[in-house]
Amino acid sequence: MKQEMMTIVGQQELAPRIYELVLAGELVQQMKMPGQFLHIRVPRNDLLLRRPISINQYDQDAGTCTVIYRVEGDGTKFFAELSAGDQLDVMGPLGHGFEIDQLNAGDTAFIVGGGIGVPPLYQLSKELNEKGIKVIHFLGFGTQEVVYYADEFQALGETRFSTDDGTFGLQGNVGNLLLAETTQPDAVFACGNNGLLKTVEQLYNQLENVQLSLESRMACGMGACYACVCHVPEDENKSVKVCEDGPVFQAGEVIF
Ligand SMILES: Cc1cc2nc3c(=O)[nH]c(=O)nc-3n(C[C@H](O)[C@H](O)[C@H](O)COP(=O)(O)OP(=O)(O)OC[C@H]3O[C@@H](n4cnc5c(N)ncnc54)[C@H](O)[C@@H]3O)c2cc1C
Ligand code: FES
Repeated sequence: MKQEMMTIVGQQELAPRIYELVLAGELVQQMKMPGQFLHIRVPRNDLLLRRPISINQYDQDAGTCTVIYRVEGDGTKFFAELSAGDQLDVMGPLGHGFEIDQLNAGDTAFIVGGGIGVPPLYQLSKELNEKGIKVIHFLGFGTQEVVYYADEFQALGETRFSTDDGTFGLQGNVGNLLLAETTQPDAVFACGNNGLLKTVEQLYNQLENVQLSLESRMACGMGACYACVCHVPEDENKSVKVCEDGPVFQAGEVIF
């Protein structure tokens, strides 16, 4: 983990309120695991807490990484106003991401994402592809207008879409997409809201390798403040930290 002033290489709006931000800096060289995140300081003195944002992809030869975020409040609104040449104070890479070592060439992995949970799944899919693992993507969005990275995911493997209003792909949510699927996966990787994660946990409870990326309110982002604790099912006195032990956990490992 490193803290660094990273330089913005470029920023573009992919969909209403959804921005893709490319950053350059040394800490890219430490990125080894899809699903890790950056803890980004908002360059405003009244906003003290850093904002956790998943790493969407990285390119170590170019020394750049990309994040995709949705404008929610003051912090992300401020990020959206920045442009090439501006700098951001970034800590990372942080957290424990998706593990892909257990999978072998020829295996099939399901990649399941919803809304603003989709970004970290892109680097994951790239790395699974490089290992010769077949990926099938199941991506859910609110409506066609906020769909992004459709072509990028389609270039990596079969991709099924759902939208709540049926304007793109199947009408419904990713749970409906998964129920309609007949292929059996060797592993499932998911990131999205808790409803999506719970659906995945339930549908694949027989499968050994199901990895879920959780979200939590964070402060320090590196295991010191206990703002992000979750309990574990077997022992109510035991807890895990989403920022340090996660954000990715095996299904059943934590209560969310
Ligand atoms: C591990 C992790 C990865 C994430 N990856 C992404 C991503 O790739 N793209 C994306 O758009 N969003 C992502 N989020 C959510 C993102 O952190 C929040 O949307 C963002 O912090 C909101 O900041 P704000 O100042 O705009 O909103 P405000 O509502 O003003 O935020 C106020 C405070 O609450 C915290 N906060 C608000 N919402 C969340 C949330 N959902 N999760 C955690 N902290 C929150 C902020 O960090 C800040 O401290 C991720 C969250 C976590 C925990
Ligand atoms: S945010 Fe401080 S321990 Fe996780």
